[in-house]
Amino acid sequence: MERLVSKEEIRQAVSEARRERKRIAFVPTMGALHEGHLTLVRAARERADFIVVSVFVNPTQFGPGEDFEAYPRVIERDMDLLGAEGVDVLFNPAPEIMYAADARVTVDPGPLGSVLEGATRPGHFVGVCTVVTKLFSIVLPDLAFFGEKDFQQLAIVRMLVRDLDLPVKVVGCPTSREDDGLARSSRNVYLSADERAAAPVLHRAMTAASCLVAAGERNARALADVMRAEIAAQPLAALDYAEVVDAATLEPLETLGTASARALVAVRIGATRLIDNLALEVR
Ligand code: PAJ
Repeated sequence: MERLVSKEEIRQAVSEARRERKRIAFVPTMGALHEGHLTLVRAARERADFIVVSVFVNPTQFGPGEDFEAYPRVIERDMDLLGAEGVDVLFNPAPEIMYAADARVTVDPGPLGSVLEGATRPGHFVGVCTVVTKLFSIVLPDLAFFGEKDFQQLAIVRMLVRDLDLPVKVVGCPTSREDDGLARSSRNVYLSADERAAAPVLHRAMTAASCLVAAGERNARALADVMRAEIAAQPLAALDYAEVVDAATLEPLETLGTASARALVAVRIGATRLIDNLALEVR
């Protein structure tokens, strides 16, 4: 696997692959790769002939006081993992390569950018939309793979591509979890042993809601209350939000009906903020 650090190099590598009529897949990441990221790479390999992965800890999507400096950076290990998965090229630019010092134009995520994650993390989705648009214009992939783990990000990226007519097909991939239900995340390394033991509360809360749906509950507020109660019962967990929303628009739902519903939760455990989500299927 080649590690490329400039826009010109990556453009050239991709255009050579395209000349060979290869289908190009792209998996954007911030590194500190885990099994969840690798499921995206494997899904990409099944659908394409040339796989580009980016590792770039994007400064513009971190707010003041967030973990930009502390975010784990383990590029040698990431390269070993990606090489073993048969990735063709790694794009690993420095921040000053990605962003000109006087860069001013950003990409507005629209109203979805200021709810849920966006309410707690103002500007986060502007940073995500801007870097994803830049990465798409540099790599020019046919397909781009994103995890359902970051459900709001996936929904916003789908809208970005649709509303700005970006010539790429977005593929969503299911959340990869530990055996106890905790969604895999680069931030899980921040958890102490006690906190790690408490962390499955997110999945447990959403599973409780999903069981209630299976038992016939259709009232979204009752489902959200159950999730909040489950989280409140875990002393190490502080609730940020627990919501039941329309899976396509992320608008709050009152009643589960024909639209597909999604439970979304965000919880602080010690200094670490964890997010997760689950489909609430009406059968
Ligand atoms: P990062 O958090 O590194 O995640 C990269 C991709 O991996 C995202 O699409 C994310 O949803 C997916 N992912 C993370 N954990 C997962 C899991 N447990 N199961 C399945 N997929 C998982 O998301 C970002 O980086 C950034 O915002 C980025 C899109 C790269 C823009 O900077």
